[in-house]
Amino acid sequence: MTSQTLRAIGLMSGTSLDGVDAAWLETDGERITHFGPTAMLAYQDDLRADLRRLLDLAPTLAPDDPFLRRVEARVTRDHALAVGLTGRVAEVIGFHGQTILHAPERGRTWQIGDAALLALLCRVPVVHDFRTADVAAGGQGAPLAPLFHAAMAEKLEKPLLIVNIGGVANVTYLGKNGEVLACDTGPGNGPLDDLAQRHLGEPYDKNGALAASGTPDSARLATLLSHPYFARPAPKSLDRLSFSSLINTATSGLSPADAAATLAAFSVAAITEFRLPANPLRVLVCGGGRKNPVLMRGLQAHFAAPVQPVEAAGWDGDALEAQCFAFLAVRSLKGLPISLPSTTGAPHPLTGGRTQSPQLE
Ligand SMILES: Nc1ncnc2c1ncn2[C@@H]1O[C@H](COP(=O)(O)OP(=O)(O)O)[C@@H](O)[C@H]1O
Ligand SMILES: [Mg+2]
Repeated sequence: MTSQTLRAIGLMSGTSLDGVDAAWLETDGERITHFGPTAMLAYQDDLRADLRRLLDLAPTLAPDDPFLRRVEARVTRDHALAVGLTGRVAEVIGFHGQTILHAPERGRTWQIGDAALLALLCRVPVVHDFRTADVAAGGQGAPLAPLFHAAMAEKLEKPLLIVNIGGVANVTYLGKNGEVLACDTGPGNGPLDDLAQRHLGEPYDKNGALAASGTPDSARLATLLSHPYFARPAPKSLDRLSFSSLINTATSGLSPADAAATLAAFSVAAITEFRLPANPLRVLVCGGGRKNPVLMRGLQAHFAAPVQPVEAAGWDGDALEAQCFAFLAVRSLKGLPISLPSTTGAPHPLTGGRTQSPQLE
């Protein structure tokens, strides 16, 4: 079984709540032997609004809350549609689910999505619930991409820094001697998206136009960076709303443009706060934030090394997280680790994920 290659479809719906990414690949859980089609199914506006509401409600929601169940069923059907959009068959599906709450310090991480329904709709075994085992063992349950990044970057020169800017931002540092360090650095696009929704009626600040038209407020930026999260050593991880109340206070009274500029500067500063053991030779950026020139320019101003979208290395920056969960699904089936002490703070390399068969039980 260990060297057997499997075809897998990975599904990711990130904290940006923009939709479901799907990606097909073939792997033995160590190396990726083929990459295949990718697809994105955007959530419809009313579903995105319902999910945004769930983030606020999550801390007090009962697991059988009818609103939650309705949204979960709809999210799951969208995932099944995204699988179909790849146009490929697979032996396993990696189903991350939609995170509505992440509080590892309270032993909780909550991804919604009905694995039994997805397995039934797609007629394929589904690996899901990737984060619970890590949190139960005392880890952060996030980020889970680092081992995938390490596999992807096998042939690239190190040290290498990979920055993922989704709703939350996270980094993976790959050292010369095989070190893999990672953590959630701070907000990514999340607060900017909320601002764009409020002031532009758009889901995000396209190409950073609003942020580029404003000026970051340095005093307020300093207030944002005084959040205790930044003083904590890695490994550490964040909820999509971890900084919400501080951000609301720190940006109140600013014009939308200056608020956007300040929030963009905040995401960049949070990423560059992470202390690296050595200067990277290259910084590769994935996630939707790589399409925001204000974020990319901000990162480039900090690093001596070139800051490039991951496409510069031949990777697909929109599909990377979905590919990651295809890879991790196969690792889960094989009992291989999906987290390390240096990535999530797990006590030892740890596997995770549960398998749901497509048979009715
Ligand atoms: N052209 C663009 N200009 C600015 N931001 C963009 C652009 N395209 C995508 N984004 C940002 O990327 C986000 C989606 O990124 P994604 O990597 O899917 O995040 P997540 O993993 O959290 O879903 C959007 O919400 C938006 O903030
Ligand atoms: Mg997304």
